[in-house]
Amino acid sequence: MKIKKAVFPAAGFGTRFLPATKAIPKEMLPLVDKPLIQYGVEEAKSSGLSEIIIVTGMGKTAIEDHFDTSFELEKLLQERGKTELLRMIENVSGMVHFAYTRQKKPLGLGHAIGITRNLINNEPFAVFLGDDIIDSEVPVMRQMMEVHKRFGTTVLAVQKVPKSQAHLYGVIKGQKIGDGIYRVLDLVEKPQSNPPSNLAIIGRYILSPGIFNALEETKPGKGGEIQLTDALRILLRTQEIYALEFEGTRYDAGDKLGFLKANVSLALKRPELRAEFRKFLKDLKI
Ligand code: UTP
Repeated sequence: MKIKKAVFPAAGFGTRFLPATKAIPKEMLPLVDKPLIQYGVEEAKSSGLSEIIIVTGMGKTAIEDHFDTSFELEKLLQERGKTELLRMIENVSGMVHFAYTRQKKPLGLGHAIGITRNLINNEPFAVFLGDDIIDSEVPVMRQMMEVHKRFGTTVLAVQKVPKSQAHLYGVIKGQKIGDGIYRVLDLVEKPQSNPPSNLAIIGRYILSPGIFNALEETKPGKGGEIQLTDALRILLRTQEIYALEFEGTRYDAGDKLGFLKANVSLALKRPELRAEFRKFLKDLKI
């Protein structure tokens, strides 16, 4: 079944980035010149997804404004003959179809996904965590869709992490069945000791609609939140789950250090900035 919809849970408080995120949604922090969430939306579009559902919460209206048309700004750019900028602004609002739903309390990632049930209609769908910026030749979601085409069931993006960092992630126990493809045998959210492997779940998922029933059964877990990993574990009792070790470089841009790394690497890839920025970095002599 073709996947058309992508859910972007964006109702978290972004506490790792305070005070910047007190009044500005984390998703709107700029990486070079685009807000974080736009990178994910562009990846969704270039993977062939046409409907974006953003789960928002308190203080997140800037996200809706960003993807809306801005009549005054477009008129001003037109009057001033700034056609390049005008085209860029029109591209943002005309990118895909957007729908918004609101999570009234931040009860966890699993809960945020659960409230999109009536917008999904019993189809497989994609989930993007906007903090995870992945720089890759083939968009990661497109890589995952190939796996979904083959198995027709839930697909998780995974990446090898040092065992010392496994406690920060959901971690799978997997059986390798092909090039970068694993059949998931078990999953644990943020294992405090003895992680089942070094394969950590990264913020891209293709979920079968069966996840909604699993989410309804899921009790609050780590941090008192409804955890998606716990719901996936319930789903695994009745359906197969696969994981793909994707090709690409991932930055956790919801974290200060990851955000800085992403800014530097992405800026170095921009033709209009590359030469001068490189020179600046070299001159730092660190
Ligand atoms: P994070 O764990 O990154 O939480 O959530 P956060 O609140 O955004 O950031 P920190 O850790 O406090 O700095 C993972 C994803 O799930 C969403 C977040 O917006 C983020 O995209 N989320 C989390 C929700 O939509 N609702 C929630 O209740 C919790």
